[in-house]
Amino acid sequence: MIRLAKPFISEAAVNNVLEIFESGDLVQGKYVKEFEIVLQDYLKIDHSVLVSSGTAALHLSLMALGIGYGDEVIVPAFSFPATANVVEIVGAKPVLVDINLDDYCMNVPDIEKVITDKTKAVIAVHEFGQSADMESLMQSAQKHDLMVIEDAACALGTEYKGQKVGSFGDIGCFSFHPRKAVTTGEGGLVVSNNPDIADEVRALRNHGISGKSDIIHPGLNYRMTDFQAAVGSAQMDSLEKAIEIRIEMARTYNELLADCDYIITPAIFPERKNVYQTYHILLHDRINREELISCLYEDGVQTNFGANALHCLTYYREKYGYEECDFPVARKAYEKGLALPCGPHMSNTDVEYICGKLLADYQTGFYTKE
Ligand SMILES: Cc1ncc(COP(=O)(O)O)c(C=O)c1O
Repeated sequence: MIRLAKPFISEAAVNNVLEIFESGDLVQGKYVKEFEIVLQDYLKIDHSVLVSSGTAALHLSLMALGIGYGDEVIVPAFSFPATANVVEIVGAKPVLVDINLDDYCMNVPDIEKVITDKTKAVIAVHEFGQSADMESLMQSAQKHDLMVIEDAACALGTEYKGQKVGSFGDIGCFSFHPRKAVTTGEGGLVVSNNPDIADEVRALRNHGISGKSDIIHPGLNYRMTDFQAAVGSAQMDSLEKAIEIRIEMARTYNELLADCDYIITPAIFPERKNVYQTYHILLHDRINREELISCLYEDGVQTNFGANALHCLTYYREKYGYEECDFPVARKAYEKGLALPCGPHMSNTDVEYICGKLLADYQTGFYTKE
C-alpha cells in the first residue's frame, strides 16, 4: 500500500530514546530544551515552547492572548476542526470566513466583512503546507487591531516571501502528528517573538507554574515528554531534504496531471514556498470521489479527503444555524478535494503509478457520475 504518509524514525532517534528510558528522566529533561532551540533557530524566531499536540498549542495560544467569553475569533471555514474547536473551548465564538480555491487558505478580503467590536483575533491556517496571503492578512489585522494566531500545524518550513510561516503573527502553532514532516507521535509547538506571550504559554503548559512553584493562573499539563523531543529533534537534520523530495514529487504530479480536465492541481505562487505537507487536488463535479477513493485503495493507493468544511459539521451547523451553501468554496474543497500520497516514504515511480491509475481508470468512465 502506498500510504498517504509514513514517519521515518532513525536509529539515532531510537538510541536516544533508549538512553532516556535508562536514565529514568522521562519528562522535563534536556531534550525538550534542545529541540526548542533547534526549532527556534530553524524558524528564526525568539521563543519556542514545545507542547503535547498541535491542538494544545492552539488552545494555549488563545489562553495566553487572553481570549475568552464574549470574544470573537475569525477562522477559515475549511480546516481541521481543532482550529475552531479551541475557540469554542475557551468560550469565544469562531466566526467563519470562506477560503480561496487556489491556496485553500482564508480569503483575506472577507475578514473585514465580519469584524465587530467583539473581534479579538484571526487564526490564519496555512492549509496543506501552503502559506496564506500573509502580507494582506497582516495589513488587515493591523488596520483593525486584531491579534494574529498562525495555525501552521501542516506548515513546518513553509515560507512567504522568504520568511518562515509561524513567525508573522503574535503566535505560531505547529503539530508533530505522524502525518507531519517531523513527528513525535503526538506533539506540538508554540512560537512567538514576544517574551511575555512565550512566558505565559510556558507557565500555562505546566499547570500555570511560574518560577519555582507559584501558580500565576490555573494552567494545564500540556508538556511534551523528553523521549518525544529526542525523536523529533533527530528528524530536523533531514527536514530540508524531506521538503525538497515533497516539492519534487508535487512537480511530477503537476506535470503528469496537467492535461487532465477533471483534476485541478495545486496553484503555484512565486512568492510562497509550499512544502506540500499534503498534496491536494480538486476533482471535477462529474467525479464520484468516494468511488475513486475505494478504487485507488484496491490498487494499493491510500487517499483521503483533505480537510473539513467546518460549517457542515453537526456542532457548528446546529449551534450557529449554518446552511451548506453559506461558505460555498469551503464546501466544494471539502466535497471535491483529494489528498494523494506524498513524501520521502515513496518514490517518483510511485507518483507515476498513482497518476497512471488516476488517468487510465477514468478512461473507462468508472468514476463518472451519472
Ligand atoms: C490545520 C490544523 N490545525 C490543527 C491541527 C491539530 O494538530 P494535532 O493533531 O497535533 O492536535 C491539525 C492536525 O492535523 C491541523 O491540520
